[in-house]
Amino acid sequence: MIASRSIPVLALAALSIASPVVPAPEITAAPSPAEIQKRATSCTFSGSSGASLASVSQKSCSTIVLSNVAVPSGVTLNLSDLEDDTTVIFEGTTTWGYKEWAGPLMQIEGSHITIKGASGAVLNGNGAEWWDGEGGSGGKTKPKFFYAHDLTDSTISNLYIQNTPVQAISIDNANSLIVSGVTIDNRAGDTGGGKNTDGFDIGDSTGVTITGANVYNQDDCVAVNSGTSITFSGGVCSGGHGLSIGSVGGRSDNTVETVTFENSEVKSSSNGIRIKATEGDTGTIKGITYSGITLSGITGYGILIEQNYDGGDLKGTPTAGIPITDVTLSNISGSGGVQSSATNVEIVCASGACSSWTWNNVVVTGGKTSTNCQGVPSGASCSA
Ligand SMILES: *[C@@H]1O[C@H](CO)[C@@H](O)[C@H](O)[C@H]1NC(C)=O
Ligand SMILES: *[C@@H]1O[C@H](CO)[C@@H](O)[C@H](O)[C@H]1NC(C)=O
Repeated sequence: MIASRSIPVLALAALSIASPVVPAPEITAAPSPAEIQKRATSCTFSGSSGASLASVSQKSCSTIVLSNVAVPSGVTLNLSDLEDDTTVIFEGTTTWGYKEWAGPLMQIEGSHITIKGASGAVLNGNGAEWWDGEGGSGGKTKPKFFYAHDLTDSTISNLYIQNTPVQAISIDNANSLIVSGVTIDNRAGDTGGGKNTDGFDIGDSTGVTITGANVYNQDDCVAVNSGTSITFSGGVCSGGHGLSIGSVGGRSDNTVETVTFENSEVKSSSNGIRIKATEGDTGTIKGITYSGITLSGITGYGILIEQNYDGGDLKGTPTAGIPITDVTLSNISGSGGVQSSATNVEIVCASGACSSWTWNNVVVTGGKTSTNCQGVPSGASCSA
């Protein structure tokens, strides 16, 4: 149990508690007793001043409890300057006020950071206030929800996120990040005008593992735009655009390597599996595995792999600047999973630019068989 106490920020300096027993540090010079005492402090912040007080005090608290914090309009819950080994716990309901701005509504950075939701905690983005059916490309300016950026050797667990205005979680420049048991519930946006509510957007990262995620949204469940050693397993995706690589191309980092999606379910979504390389750009998509994926209620493409993405799927002529190589699909269960008006499998590659694909036990049926496939490498088939 963490002893939780409410500490107004101005009282922190005057705070006096018994020095806890801490193990002697191994390498660095021993911190002063005052330092140890400060860092052992658990701080609780609440209400409409909670976000700004937590920001100001972030370096003084080894545990930050955000209990029923009401973040004011136009303010970022900003914990981007945490000391190593800080724990951030959400309790009760966290809310954000309405304003048209780009956000983010929340930003957390650091090394050896533990971010978690207490039982019953909800992070409510209040998205319906912004939803207008136009997402990120028109209408109201909508704040992104959570920048989980620059996290090293860190964990995010047990967050229940509801109703994000647009994109939910942006993971960028992460190095060894484990995300477990996170729910993104934007179901209300299905009929309420939610759009571009991506679940997880991942870029510039090495070693990201996402397990047991539940994503109900209206865009990619997961989109890996760049990065290495990314795994998504045991997830459920509903209502969105499926498990995506890309779009790749046109950014500063255009390499996606060693990405695994496994033992997950995609339902009531426009696509199941999608790999998008942008037409005319350069980059690398290599070492991609989809294994143990169940598809149902797919309305666009069961599997879509394209080298002619151009702001939209299947635009123009495929180009070879972003080769798609080493693609393994195994145990893809989509028997009857694609709706009759939709397409089972579509592959559009430039000549020779897709290679070394291994497909085993890929069954995706119910929809149409594409007649437009091109550049399909041996090992794969558009009539799976
Ligand atoms: C968060 O605070 C840091 C300084 O600690 C600042 O550099 C950064 O711009 C802030 N982020 C936002 C979104 O306001
Ligand atoms: C595919 O499914 C079979 C039967 O359920 C299982 O034995 C095999 O290990 C699976 N292969 C992969 C790569 O998941």
